[in-house]
Amino acid sequence: MSRMPNKSQDKLRLPRQIDQVGTIEAFLAQQRDQDLLRFITCGSVDDGKSTLIGRLLWEAQQLFDDQIVTLRSESKKYGTQGDEVDFALLVDGLAAEREQGITIDVAYRFFGTSKRKFIVADTPGHEQYTRNMVTGASNADVAVLLVDARNGLLTQTRRHAFLVSLLGIRHVALAINKMDLVGFKAETFHEIREAFDAFAKPLGFASISAIPLSALRGDNITERSSQTPWYNGPTLLGYLESVTVSPQHTDRFAFPVQWVNRPDSNFRGFCGTIAGGSVRVGEEIRVTASGHKAIVSEIISMDGSLDVATSGDAVTLRLDREIDVSRGDVISSSQSPLETTDQFEATLVWMHEDAGLTGRSYDIKLSTQWASASITTIKHRIDINTASHQASKNLALNDISTCNIATSKPLVFDTYDNSPALGSFILIDRFSHTTVAAGMIRHSLRRAENVHRQPLSIARVDREKLNGHSGRVIWFTGLSGSGKSTLANALEIALHQRGMRTYLLDGDNVRQGLNKDLGFTEGDRVENIRRIAEVAKLMMDAGMIVMTAFISPFKREREMARELIGAENFLEVYVNTPLSVCEARDPKGLYKKARSGQIPNMTGINSPYEPPEHPQLIVGGQDQPTEYAVETITKTLLELA
Ligand code: ADX
Repeated sequence: MSRMPNKSQDKLRLPRQIDQVGTIEAFLAQQRDQDLLRFITCGSVDDGKSTLIGRLLWEAQQLFDDQIVTLRSESKKYGTQGDEVDFALLVDGLAAEREQGITIDVAYRFFGTSKRKFIVADTPGHEQYTRNMVTGASNADVAVLLVDARNGLLTQTRRHAFLVSLLGIRHVALAINKMDLVGFKAETFHEIREAFDAFAKPLGFASISAIPLSALRGDNITERSSQTPWYNGPTLLGYLESVTVSPQHTDRFAFPVQWVNRPDSNFRGFCGTIAGGSVRVGEEIRVTASGHKAIVSEIISMDGSLDVATSGDAVTLRLDREIDVSRGDVISSSQSPLETTDQFEATLVWMHEDAGLTGRSYDIKLSTQWASASITTIKHRIDINTASHQASKNLALNDISTCNIATSKPLVFDTYDNSPALGSFILIDRFSHTTVAAGMIRHSLRRAENVHRQPLSIARVDREKLNGHSGRVIWFTGLSGSGKSTLANALEIALHQRGMRTYLLDGDNVRQGLNKDLGFTEGDRVENIRRIAEVAKLMMDAGMIVMTAFISPFKREREMARELIGAENFLEVYVNTPLSVCEARDPKGLYKKARSGQIPNMTGINSPYEPPEHPQLIVGGQDQPTEYAVETITKTLLELA
């Protein structure tokens, strides 16, 4: 008894680009009193997914039109999509990614029956679309995994099941489709169900319900099929209407502050969306970073003042006293404070063609908080087909891995299991500003709590006073054979003669000791520079003038060094000798070897060199005498001091 789609259903194809958050909040506020189930469908077009979703939508459209009217008016009110309905932020977990301009192929559809309302996240099934699935599945309660009865369990089904478990979805409907094409045979259904149960056992789902279907013919979608008398379970819609999804997340109150509203000296309010739990007027709250406490004096929403506000509400909180709260702070109840960490273990889904490397610095966004972050260890890559762990040195597109992450400052967090809002984050490339990874926090590392900075009595300024000059870092960069070492060496002599305390860290030397374990892959070069930047920083803290002579081919790592050392202490010198000259010099015969194929990743030949865009100094060129360059650098250095 299927009805044909009416016109308004066409509009359910959702816009992909959104840039505001208003509509989802308004929509969810509308749904508060109604039972809402979010689910994700996983499978490919070949499995009959579109037919299945289409049929669900057509056959369960009782409340459809009036909901559309509501959504339409809300969409108009907030105007995010002109006259179009803006459903796209119905899944809010990784919405920040959209701000970064990544287009994600996830369509959210909305429908309802008299029993429940539903949000379906529909993602393409192809293996490459892991990241779409991650986005679509954030906050879903149930996953519908489609299987073509003729093919049985495919690698892809296993992959989807694995990802779904990883993302914290506890309930799975195994929709065994195209039963009509296998003659509605009970054995086929049972075989597939048993194979899946065996595979999924270690994944720890709370429930797995297998349902025999024909999406095309409408068997067991909304009405029981006479073709499957051997099946006693619910129809797919019946299952979706009745499955009990106990709240999987904690009720701890968490309020990430998006901005501080201070129109005049009499009013001060903290605006944001409640990420978990609820808050009442009169309750004592705590600001996580500072530990300061205050009482909530007023909760203001778009509809006026509230006594209580809960998860998903966009509100402004006013407090009974002036305490320091700024954008990015997270407010909790004083009864159940939130924790902070600067080192944690996470599951990371890599979403970019450029490899993810340990030691490279990224921006991290966790809820409303920003910091720098780096992957300190890739513990293992997860082979999603077999769930086995593999050693890996870097992360490729769609890789799922377990990593340790370190951040530049402590962030308020929770585990993803407890709170998707405070347990998920994204990593952003600092140059292109694209999102490169999405992560889920597994737990904080103990070392984050147990390692503390030890205050020292003698400070950098004391050492500098004794030396008679400031500590600085002069960072030489350029191709192999460009003359970095020669120049740095001449500079050190000149500074030494002036009575300055100096040290020269040179690539070829450091690579025979501290960095003996590193080669010339991209990942090893990143780590090489990270260590050198750290060592240079320590030596500068000792009050010395440090010269570093490394190719340091990547601008990201030179930027990282500048940031770590402090721009005011850092002098980047680009030794700009053309490749042809370096190659003609070829002091170590390396270019010759590279040209004949004996060195696989020689900088300038078959490994990239990214020239600095804004170095403080450019020196070299074949005609410039060393003395002149030394003089220029010394002059610039003395001006800095
Ligand atoms: S970096 O890229 O990681 O900064 P680094 O400056 O430490 O490189 O080391 C470069 C030196 O290693 C070169 O001067 C050269 O003598 C030597 N070398 C050996 N193999 C390579 C290679 N594949 N590419 C560049 N330099 C190499």
